[in-house]
Parts: sequence; structure tokens; C-alpha cells
Amino acid sequence: MSNKCRVCSSNIKEFMSLGEMPIANAFVLKNDSDKQFFYHLKISFCEKCYTFQLIDIPKPEQMFNENYAYLSSTSSAMIEHFSELSSKIINNTTFSKNSFVVEVGSNDGIFLKNFADKDIKHLGVDASKNVCDLAKEKNVKILNAFFNFEISKKIEKNYGKADVIVSTNTMHHIENINDVVKGMANLIKEEGIIITEDPSLIEMLKNNAYDQVYAEHMYIWSLTSIKNLLSTHGLEVFNIENNEFHGGCSRYFIAKKNTKKIQNSVIEHQNNEDSFGIKKISTYLKFKENVVKSKEKLTSLLKNLKSNKKTIVGYGAPAKSTTILNYCKINNSLIDKIFDNSKTKINKKTPGKSLIDVVDSKEFKEYKSDYCVLFAWNHRKEILLKEKEYSNKNGKWIIPLSNIEII
Ligand code: TYD
Ligand code: ZN
Repeated sequence: MSNKCRVCSSNIKEFMSLGEMPIANAFVLKNDSDKQFFYHLKISFCEKCYTFQLIDIPKPEQMFNENYAYLSSTSSAMIEHFSELSSKIINNTTFSKNSFVVEVGSNDGIFLKNFADKDIKHLGVDASKNVCDLAKEKNVKILNAFFNFEISKKIEKNYGKADVIVSTNTMHHIENINDVVKGMANLIKEEGIIITEDPSLIEMLKNNAYDQVYAEHMYIWSLTSIKNLLSTHGLEVFNIENNEFHGGCSRYFIAKKNTKKIQNSVIEHQNNEDSFGIKKISTYLKFKENVVKSKEKLTSLLKNLKSNKKTIVGYGAPAKSTTILNYCKINNSLIDKIFDNSKTKINKKTPGKSLIDVVDSKEFKEYKSDYCVLFAWNHRKEILLKEKEYSNKNGKWIIPLSNIEII
């Protein structure tokens, strides 16, 4: 059976597999390890529209349900990041008191809280009930649903068209991506702005950050691929900003075609992607080679340390760690426990065959370990600062990607 690209419907084929995977955020209750759902993580690259995507993905209900473990507000840097984005929107000359802001994938309300606090008309749409409840506690107005064209018509009927639609770390989650972009194009006003932000493909390839890939990240977008996606819905990118979040994200500013001047940032970014070889299959085959090398290096390092009687723990249990742990077949025989500050993960085990206990990061200071794998490597600055006592006491951090850095 041939597989079809979710964006342009061309035939696509696998160029790389990371093996059997559980749902990245499905942290396991103590006695439920045999009730897990697994899928095969196969990756492909569409040579027609250049979209990097997974071939098979679990049903959305397997990933986004009442137990969704990812909480945006676990990082103070993220809270700050979203507060800055909201100020940028509010300070824009076209924004007024009567503007209407919609967020697709509003998580725990981290972003919309900034509008709720100022009494600005807003609506968050999110498929996971537990995060919707957390958003409501922040007085954020929420619709618990999967956003799509139908829902966009409902919102339009009840609230009118939107001045701004924001969607951060969501565009890579959505299987029926054309229906969602069609919904955004329908809901946005003629002069409105859509802002999306996701991990950037060029950064992922440069950092060999294969842990960005899992079912909830069924695409890793590039400017090249997102332009193709938007184009069929009468939309275009007119500005782009890059940031360090999640290991390197691109923020795309999108408008209806020919309504905004295309800025130099877009032309420069496109040139970077072209010269990096973002459209060439050879770039992805090289990535595959690097990923295999990285796995060999990490597993042999951990096994050597263990045979030398070193104690190894982990810090941060991001969704990304599920990919590393399961692909590298690392379990609780190598890593004692993982420290994390999310209440949705503490006292559970890491998903899949890894089954490592997740404990409250407050206990990290008390626990004696020689090495700590920093799975939340994208929060390196914040965590190393918070836990500097560990380094002062000669504790070593292992960055589990690329060349496997020890600090
Ligand atoms: P995150 O970077 O949000 O990524 P992903 O999308 O891959 O899930 O995950 C970071 C994880 O690290 C999250 O589980 C919270 C945890 N964390 C801590 O435990 N302490 C910290 O100081 C920070 C910043 C994060
Ligand atoms: Zn395609």
C-alpha cells in the first residue's frame, strides 16, 4: 500500500524508522505498564511539497485526551515568552480594545491568560479536557474541541471573525492539517494576522535533534513546506522570527495573500534553507546516519558508566525523552529515576519499555548521583542555573544528543 503526503497527497515512502514507540506523553501509572499503546515510528519526506512527516500515526484520541501530560506553564522562560508575544500583539498599531484573539491549541492558558487579565475578547480551542480545565482556572475562555473548518464556522457564528489567530506548538500535531488551515483562513479577518510557531526543521537537522520526532510531532515544518501548505488556502508567510525554544523554533507571521509586504526575513530564511539542502533527500539520509551514530554513542557511554558503578539519573521528562529512551532502549537498569516538575508526570513511569520512575524535581538536590542525563536539554540554561549546587558538588550533566556532550 502506498502512503500519501498529508499536505499534497503525493506518494511518499519511509526513509527512516525509530522502531516501536508509545505515545510520547502517555506517562504510565505504576500498575498499568502492560496497558500501553504502541505504534511504529516511520519517517518520510515528501519530495513534491518538502514536508517532513511521519507515515503512521495513532488516532488523535490516543494522544490528546483527558490525561494530556504536557503543560506549557512548567517553565518560567515559557511563561515569559508567551507574555512577550501577547505584548507584541497588543502593541501592534492595528490591534484595538475590540480585537478578537483566537488560539488553536491553547493548552493550560499560558498565552491567553495575558488577554483574559486585560479583558480582551479571546477564545482558546483545545482538544484535551484536563488542560482546558487548567486554562479555565486562569479565567481563560475555552472551547474543548479539535479545531477544524466546521469549528471555525461555529466560532465565526458565535463570536465573529478573528483579528489574530495564534497557534504555537500545535501545527505539528494535526493530521487533517488542510482542514485546520482552511478553518484558520475562514476565521481570520481580511487584514488579520495568523501567527504559528513550531520547532524548525533546519535547526532539528543541524542539531541532530531526532527527539523532536514522535507521534504528536507528526510534521517538522520548514519555511519551504509551510509555504506550500498555506498557498493552497490563499495564505502566505510575510515575516519570520527564529528563537531558541524547544531547541530552535520558527515563528511564522501569516496573512491573506497580497495583503502584507513580504519582509526580508522571509527571503533570507528561504535562502538559508535552500543552501542547507532542505529540499534534497540526501540531507535526510545524512541525518539518519547521524542519528544512528548518536544512539550508539549514548548507549555505550551509559553502559560504561554503569559498569563502573556510577549512579545515573535523568532531569526533565519531556515528550522528547520518550523518543530517546525507546529508540536507544534505555530503561531503569541504566537510569535510576528522572526528576521533573510536572504534576501530570510525577509518581508515574516514563512511557513504553523504558518505565523509569518520574519523581518531583524538588528531590533532586537530596539524591546523590554521579551523572544526570539532561533530557530537557532545551531548558539547559534555566535548569543548570537552578541546580548549580549539583555541578558544584562535581555532578556531571550529559546532553543526550548529537555528539553527547558531558558538562
Ligand atoms: P518541554 O521542553 O516542554 O518539552 P516537550 O515538548 O518535549 O515535552 O519539556 C520540558 C520538561 O522538563 C517538562 O516535563 C518539565 C520539565 N522541567 C523541569 O522538570 N524543571 C525545569 O526547571 C524545567 C524548565 C522543565
Ligand atoms: Zn507533499
